[in-house]
Amino acid sequence: MTTHARKRIGVFGAGAVGGHIGTRLSAAGLPVVLLDLAERVAAGPPEHAVDARGGIHRRGEDLVLTSDVAALSDVELCLVSVKAAHTEGAAQTLAEVLAPCVPVVSLQNGLRNPGRLRTHLSHVIAAVVGFNVVTGPRGATTETVPGKVYLGEGQTPASNRALEAMASALRRTGLPTEIRSDIEAVATGKLLLNLNNGIGGATGLGIVAMLADSDARACFSQCLLEGRRLMAAAGRPIARVGPLGARAVAASMRLPTWLVKATAPVGPTAITSTLADLRAGRATEIDDLNGEIVDVAQTLGKSAPYNAVVVEAVRAHERSIAAGAQPQWVRPAQLRARMASRRASAGKLATR
Ligand SMILES: NC(=O)c1ccc[n+]([C@@H]2O[C@H](COP(=O)([O-])OP(=O)(O)OC[C@H]3O[C@@H](n4cnc5c(N)ncnc54)[C@H](OP(=O)(O)O)[C@@H]3O)[C@@H](O)[C@H]2O)c1
Repeated sequence: MTTHARKRIGVFGAGAVGGHIGTRLSAAGLPVVLLDLAERVAAGPPEHAVDARGGIHRRGEDLVLTSDVAALSDVELCLVSVKAAHTEGAAQTLAEVLAPCVPVVSLQNGLRNPGRLRTHLSHVIAAVVGFNVVTGPRGATTETVPGKVYLGEGQTPASNRALEAMASALRRTGLPTEIRSDIEAVATGKLLLNLNNGIGGATGLGIVAMLADSDARACFSQCLLEGRRLMAAAGRPIARVGPLGARAVAASMRLPTWLVKATAPVGPTAITSTLADLRAGRATEIDDLNGEIVDVAQTLGKSAPYNAVVVEAVRAHERSIAAGAQPQWVRPAQLRARMASRRASAGKLATR
């Protein structure tokens, strides 16, 4: 490996995504610095990451887990993998510690995090993580739904070399990684698939249980088609993320339960990150997910009744948790009925 490729990669936020990608980069021989809060650092760096096929990727020698931001001062590329609520703070911290030419790659969901980072940083690259991953004991991560990593393009030859080095390292560990010139379209495609987040958050169901419930699947299908229609109306290009496009995924949700269960490549512990946040008592990213569709509708002078109902249900859970109460999960059939009723009222308003 060249001296250039030996420069370190920083990861701001060593949770599920950051811990997984950081460990796999380290397993491929790249030196990595994982930054997280002091509580997590006490447990030590993750020993391994498990891929979607059950393959174990043991970390390399040069993996550091620290809560000292100064450790990021000499990285050649920094990945950001905190939740949306922490992006602004991460951007401010990184602006103080990184050299201005260092590219910062947002591995986060939604469409707004690169913009939040750009308010403090000059070289921000959007990326999309197409797999689902959960954290287990001692920070070990497990991919529960397979998928690719999509990286946007850098602004300089040096940043593109660093991105290429990272992409080849991830590929060496068997994680398919592409560098894309249409990363905004990829992010929009991923956002549409992520609309299942709100369904998991509203109902309290893990992904396997959601897929086993025809009402939950119908709710997801309706949110997806509504999101796709509104994004198209807003002139936003949509790229396919994964084997099926948004319309085909929506159609697949209408198939019989036995067929969905037999064909969906989902591990038993998979949950949406919205549900993971609610279970952990944290604020969710719902405004960046189903809430994004509601916002796009408003910008167009239209409504997004299906996604709006889902956002309201998740916000109600957030309020319950903030008040110290347990969320009252909404049964999928009840959520579907609420969505139908809101759609009917929106239709009446539109025809008045
Ligand atoms: N998990 C997935 O399957 C998946 C897949 C694709 C995309 N994404 C997206 O990737 C992003 C990260 O998600 P995630 O699931 O990896 O979240 P996560 O597991 O909660 O990881 C975020 C990590 O950042 C830490 N953190 C927060 N503030 C920090 C700070 N100021 N300094 C250092 N560390 C800080 C968190 O610590 P605390 O826990 O103590 O707050 C946590 O360890 C989100 O935008 C998510 O939507 C997730």
